[in-house]
Amino acid sequence: MIVPLFSAKPTRIGVDISSTAVKIIQLEKHRGGYRTAAFSTEPLPPGAVQGKSITDTDAVAAALTRATQRARLKGKRLCMAVPTSSAVSRVLHIDNPGNEFELEEQVRAEAAQYIPFPIDEVNFDFEKLESDILGKQKKRRSGQEVGIDVLMAATRTDNVDSRVAVAEAAGMAVDVIDIESFALQNAYTEILAPTLTPEERSQPVAVFDLGDTTTTLNIFVDDDIVYTREHEGGGQQLTADIAAQYGLSLDEADQRKRDDSLPEDYERKVLQPYLDALAMNVERFIQYYYSESSGNTVNLILLGGGAANTHGATERINNETGVTTRLANPFAALAKGPGVSTEQVARHGTAMLIACGLALRSFD
Ligand SMILES: Nc1ncnc2c1ncn2[C@@H]1O[C@H](COP(=O)(O)OP(=O)(O)OP(=O)(O)O)[C@@H](O)[C@H]1O
Ligand SMILES: [Mg+2]
Repeated sequence: MIVPLFSAKPTRIGVDISSTAVKIIQLEKHRGGYRTAAFSTEPLPPGAVQGKSITDTDAVAAALTRATQRARLKGKRLCMAVPTSSAVSRVLHIDNPGNEFELEEQVRAEAAQYIPFPIDEVNFDFEKLESDILGKQKKRRSGQEVGIDVLMAATRTDNVDSRVAVAEAAGMAVDVIDIESFALQNAYTEILAPTLTPEERSQPVAVFDLGDTTTTLNIFVDDDIVYTREHEGGGQQLTADIAAQYGLSLDEADQRKRDDSLPEDYERKVLQPYLDALAMNVERFIQYYYSESSGNTVNLILLGGGAANTHGATERINNETGVTTRLANPFAALAKGPGVSTEQVARHGTAMLIACGLALRSFD
């Protein structure tokens, strides 16, 4: 047996470049699960990321540099994601896969019809799937087993290049580019789902990511994703309402919202109307799922994203929908490594789902 003289290769670092912050996390295997080896989040100046695109590379790279310095990371290999709305992914069935080269040619040709831009302007990748669902459907129809299923994903080259540029400017290297929805799915399967009861896992679970500018709904049944939709709007609305009501800048309003340090009439004048609208939207987005996919009744709602921490949000959504509602905090299931601050973890937990999903790509 060969005993390694040096510790194993450091794991990849999950980096979520979101509208408001650069969030980084590194995980390690620990007692049959995972533990947080390094963790940090660094706010971004307004406008550095707009509509999910990186518009100020220098500002984002500076935030990444500060975040990595504070987090005491091991290694420099990053895993980042492109936004779900900027990517195309699809399961394709290939009848005669042939050798690796022929397979790639066929996937490319097949994929081209789903990609709304010229194929030479996209980053494109695919992997063989073990499930072969489409193949089984075909087999049922034709009586014979043919071909394989592949999962293909593509995004415009500039979405990848802008992330690689940020990493390089911060002295790091990008190892993997993922898609946000895949990262969230990974976080759910590996970290959130194991904390649920078998009954909860087998019924539809609605996982909301209540971000600053976007609200995403993913629905899982038996750990498989059955529905995903992104809607505009998020915690930014409450920040704007606070700023308008109390004559504050958006930065000040955001800070005081997070610190819970607003005047006494805040709850009645600003927070309650916001929670009413939030709960109504959550109900509406779940109704879209019913009408679009005729799925079973949602049995559990998990609230992720920073805006999930809005005072009273969980209770209000629970009351409006009549569905058990809890926070989706990945750190409830992750052990804490030395040097990771409990206060940080408590403050930012729900906002770290995508970063956690990306960090998990170390263990594929
Ligand atoms: N304790 C808190 N109470 C209320 N709101 C909070 C709290 N902490 C964070 N938020 C809000 O959560 C939002 C940021 O959440 P998050 O970090 O998930 O967004 P993001 O990932 O940057 O945005 P997006 O996903 O839209 O790109 C902001 O609107 C922020 O004000
Ligand atoms: Mg987000």
